[in-house]
Amino acid sequence: MPDSDRWIPQLTHDGSFTFFSDEFGEAFHSRQGAKEEAFLKFAKATDLIQKATRNSLRLLDVCYGLGYNTAAALETIWAVNPACQVEVYGLELDESVPNAAIIPPLLHSWSLEVQIILQTIAQTRHCLTSHLNATLLIGDARKTIQQICELGFQADAIFFDPFSPRRCPQLWTIEFFLQVAQCMAPDGKLATYSRSASVRSAILAAGLSLGTIPLSDRHLPHEWSQGTIAAFDDRSLPPLSQMEQEHLHTRAAIPYRDPNLHDSAEVILQRHQREQQSSTLESTSSWRRRWGIQ
Ligand SMILES: C[S@@+](CC[C@H](N)C(=O)[O-])C[C@H]1O[C@@H](n2cnc3c(N)ncnc32)[C@H](O)[C@@H]1O
Repeated sequence: MPDSDRWIPQLTHDGSFTFFSDEFGEAFHSRQGAKEEAFLKFAKATDLIQKATRNSLRLLDVCYGLGYNTAAALETIWAVNPACQVEVYGLELDESVPNAAIIPPLLHSWSLEVQIILQTIAQTRHCLTSHLNATLLIGDARKTIQQICELGFQADAIFFDPFSPRRCPQLWTIEFFLQVAQCMAPDGKLATYSRSASVRSAILAAGLSLGTIPLSDRHLPHEWSQGTIAAFDDRSLPPLSQMEQEHLHTRAAIPYRDPNLHDSAEVILQRHQREQQSSTLESTSSWRRRWGIQ
């Protein structure tokens, strides 16, 4: 099937487009706005506006997809400091996704300079300009992250954007976060849209501290956060609320595990379910009742 038939652009509420994955049963971005999500939950949450004053920055885009998180990061950095030298590694399983994203109307969300960068990355997997060195590694991120670790790459910002834990548990395990944490600079930050307790406890088990991405004005009644920020030092992170901290003591906080980093989604989900069933932690429904969450 041609990529253009497989990936049909879907409009989100901010006027930008996303794709829907039949394989994972999920859209690639929030329906509220794909471009808005890339700026708020990734570029802003990892402090790129402040960090852009540096001479150089390194970015790790886990699950590159359409390249929106890289695109939003580059626009954010160069709006502050057009001379900042940026090095980017993107990790993506399916090369048909970035390829399908470099046509109108998807590309039109971005500046002309970033449009050309996204096209070059999708077509050649590299983009070298006077102030950018970007590489896209195609394959299972559980393998490609090991190449990044071996290079000694230390990211100032990590965009962590797999499909949700139930659909893609392989990339939300303690073991994968341990690998990713090795590629983060001492003052780096990792951001993800997930606010799930299992994800947060896997991040903690990988030796990182947790912060929340606070809600925006336009949030749905059942939401308590827009995602999670992780760093080695919690002093620079917006703290979790009491409700979020208590969530980490419920059965929902049992993390996903993948001891050898090669189990299938099914095996990881079954292992997780067995651990939840035998747990003596508070049930998540009781936590929800205590905090009045529907
Ligand atoms: C939620 S989408 C990412 C959206 C992307 N960050 C963007 O801005 O367009 C998840 C991506 O993860 C990729 N993916 C799924 N399993 C993967 C794996 N094991 N390794 C690397 N990428 C994977 C999918 O192909 C998809 O592009």
